[in-house]
Amino acid sequence: MPIDPRFSTRDPSLASDQLRDLIASQPKGRSLHQAFYSDPSIYALDVERIFMRRWLCVGHESRIPNSGDFFVHEIAGESLIIVRGADREVRALVNVCRHRGSEVCYEKEGNAKVLVCPYHAWAYELDGSLRAARQMNERLDKSEYGLTQIHLRILEGLIFVCFAADPPKLDDVERTLRASLGRYGWADAKVAHRGIYSVDANWKLAMENYFECYHCGPAHPEFARHHATDKYLAPEAKALREKVHARAKEMGIEIPYIANWPWSAAPGEEMVDAFHDAAYPGSVTGSEDGQRVAPLMGDFTDYDGGFAYVDAGPASTFLAYPDYGVMYLFIPRDIQATDMEIVWLVAKDAKQGVDYELDRLIWMWDVTSIADKKIIDHNQKGVNSRYYRPGPYSPMEEMPRAMTEWYLETIAAGSND
Ligand code: FES
Ligand SMILES: [Fe+2]
Repeated sequence: MPIDPRFSTRDPSLASDQLRDLIASQPKGRSLHQAFYSDPSIYALDVERIFMRRWLCVGHESRIPNSGDFFVHEIAGESLIIVRGADREVRALVNVCRHRGSEVCYEKEGNAKVLVCPYHAWAYELDGSLRAARQMNERLDKSEYGLTQIHLRILEGLIFVCFAADPPKLDDVERTLRASLGRYGWADAKVAHRGIYSVDANWKLAMENYFECYHCGPAHPEFARHHATDKYLAPEAKALREKVHARAKEMGIEIPYIANWPWSAAPGEEMVDAFHDAAYPGSVTGSEDGQRVAPLMGDFTDYDGGFAYVDAGPASTFLAYPDYGVMYLFIPRDIQATDMEIVWLVAKDAKQGVDYELDRLIWMWDVTSIADKKIIDHNQKGVNSRYYRPGPYSPMEEMPRAMTEWYLETIAAGSND
């Protein structure tokens, strides 16, 4: 089914001169003005100019291995049915009935032969086309009333969707993911566990937190014990990284390092970056004791003493260890409500209870995300105060600084003036 060109974005209500003034008064190198984290009309701009225009990861393909398998992914006020068709193609269908607009799927996941709207029982094929409309069959041109489909691409097992009629190109993303997550075997991985960590904060505060490790020492002693990211600007961390890169090279695995970083993309392309970092000596993966938690994945025949951070699109981040993977999806719900969906991946053949124990596997990113929730929630509370003023980013916060600069350019570029 073709992409419906009528699916266009709404025009946000914030007047462009107000937005221009706000952006012009934003001090450089500092956290954003309060309005960017708290004004509903700015949130509406974020949705239209970022989340409706860019590629977003919604999950791993292994979640829907069989024809008819589906899951519902809600993001930025929209609901999508991600479904594997009878032809085994995966599609992203907008979860809005073409009769009178009810959600078609109430369930969060399952398997279906047909998608039947519970309201008046219009029935859709797995490719979204309308199969039957009760008691209206003669009068209705069914070809006009298929579920709206949006763009979807699967790269290294990761399902990306884009609401835009004309999405950014994915050539750089595809190349970088293949050279990074591809070596960790993500295309053949399976989901071991999913968890939702909801924060009472604007999506940008959640992402800024993810993109800096200035807070790792004080907030994440468990993480900082094993990952040299907590001091990544220090000469000793750089020396460790060089060792890891050399070790990986010996193993025939070279992970790209800081490609297109920070927060930039070639014209017309979606953004992507990759960063091959080091564990501290004695640690080989992100676990409580730094020791292995699952069978090696992909091309890894041994541990290289490191791991890779990969980011693709504005709100999807990934972390690959040689023995497991973490997908970190940032899902805005409202101006100050964001879900962080975390998906743990292991090798396809790894068996729970035999090859890995779930509680050991998820320990590091569960503990870390619970701690992050607390600090992000308190960050938003403070930012909401009348005493909040934009504060200076430290050298360890160059990525959030770059992110906020990208953010301001992106929403300004979408204004109507
Ligand atoms: S709204 Fe779906 S069948 Fe009526
Ligand atoms: Fe954190």
